[in-house]
Amino acid sequence: MSIRLVTVWIIFSCALSLFGCSEDEPSEMTVASEKKDDIFTAREWSVIQSLSPLPETPPPNPTNRVADDPEAAQLGQMFFFDARFSKDGTVACATCHSPFHGFADVEATSLGAGRGTRNAPTLLNAAYNEWQFWDGRADTLWSQALSALEGETEQAGTRLQYAHLIHQHYAVDYETVFGELPELADTTRFPSDGKPGDATFNSMSEIDQHAVNIVFANIGKAIEAYERLLVSRDAPFDRYVAGDTEAISPEAKRGLKTFIGKGVCILCHDTPTFTDNEFHNLGVPQGTLPEDIGRYAGISMLLGDPFNGGGIYSDDPTVATRILNFLEPIQQHQGEFKTPTLRNVALTAPYFHTGELPTLESVIEFNNVGGTGGNFAGQRERTLEPLGLSEEEKSELVEFLETLTGELPPAHLLTKPNLP
Ligand code: HEC
Ligand code: HEC
Repeated sequence: MSIRLVTVWIIFSCALSLFGCSEDEPSEMTVASEKKDDIFTAREWSVIQSLSPLPETPPPNPTNRVADDPEAAQLGQMFFFDARFSKDGTVACATCHSPFHGFADVEATSLGAGRGTRNAPTLLNAAYNEWQFWDGRADTLWSQALSALEGETEQAGTRLQYAHLIHQHYAVDYETVFGELPELADTTRFPSDGKPGDATFNSMSEIDQHAVNIVFANIGKAIEAYERLLVSRDAPFDRYVAGDTEAISPEAKRGLKTFIGKGVCILCHDTPTFTDNEFHNLGVPQGTLPEDIGRYAGISMLLGDPFNGGGIYSDDPTVATRILNFLEPIQQHQGEFKTPTLRNVALTAPYFHTGELPTLESVIEFNNVGGTGGNFAGQRERTLEPLGLSEEEKSELVEFLETLTGELPPAHLLTKPNLP
């Protein structure tokens, strides 16, 4: 071999060994001795270790000063299950994010005040997400909750309605956590219903509008404090990585090998939450759903959201502003959607942002054939080639994904508390 060819071969074999096809280099012998199971090379094992454990607590969120306040969390849990937080008193967060379905929805697209056009993701470990929603149009959990509370297909109520609900039923608890409520008893200054765009809200003084916005933001911040407790760890996969070689089956281990190797899943599902926190266009067809440009629209909505992490309702806009300043709605983001977590994925069928794929088998087959064509916005990522997986490899991948089901949060967080 010429020197050039040798170099190419070394690069190529290194690339292969990352994906599990080649021998270890002798220099890795020391690392190799730390290996827990013979099926993996030392290099593969170090990739696997980058997927576990999930840190015990989500990263801090300085934009919400009560993010880790237990009293705020208790209040947030009540809000989460309280259907009075909706236009007609019938829809709560828990309607679409049921604790009995991994905090996701069994329906492809959810029915709230209206029928939405996307699948409801799990809230387990959502506090670890860098972005919320399939298009990342929220940068914090608290601002995400505000979209749902006023969203036409979700709860469809208004911030004035909710401020009065707090005043009538939650005043003491609210004031303990957040301080004094505005003079909501004065319904001339604070009409019973309305949001920006409505005559009732628009006719209020700016100071009173701001006061209502603060109450609204605080409702979201309490909900976030609750959601931050919805942590799910210690899946069989984690026990395996921690050294229990029996924690997952031989089939699941081979599935894991495919996950980090031939299946190249690790390219995007590459952290302890199994997401790169990025957006990709997999070419998921919209079927009968309307066109969806995903992240492209999500960036503009996020930048225009007065409740984003860099805005005046944020408790610490510095870091969030720095991140927001990097975002630009460029064409390349057309049709991109967030890489979802794969933890607890076996609990949260159906799949993809459309909710069109009924099973994990069907998702893997979609990846295996390299997309199915059909109508979708933008360009499918060019790196996504057909994978050529055998039937056995596909079912082993499913077995592996099933080992990502973790412990549920403590029981008292899974049920509707008594509401005032
Ligand atoms: C009518 C059903 C419905 C209701 C009610 C609802 N959601 Fe959702 N939720 C969804 C759907 C659908 C999505 C995905 C929408 C999107 O990405 O555009 C979603 C997304 C989310 C996300 C983002 C998760 C992620 O991984 O991106 C969070 C967090 C969330 N909802 C929390 C809540 C909270 C808190 C409430 C109550 C204030 C709530 N939801 C009410 C259906 C609902
Ligand atoms: C290029 C990045 C990328 C690669 C490679 C990739 N995924 Fe994904 N994955 C995504 C994105 C993005 C979505 C959401 C797509 C959408 O809904 O439009 C997704 C969705 C999923 C879902 C559905 C989860 C849910 O809650 O709806 C599963 C399961 C999944 N991927 C598993 C895999 C497996 C297994 C592999 C390897 C065979 C793989 N992925 C390879 C980025 C990737």
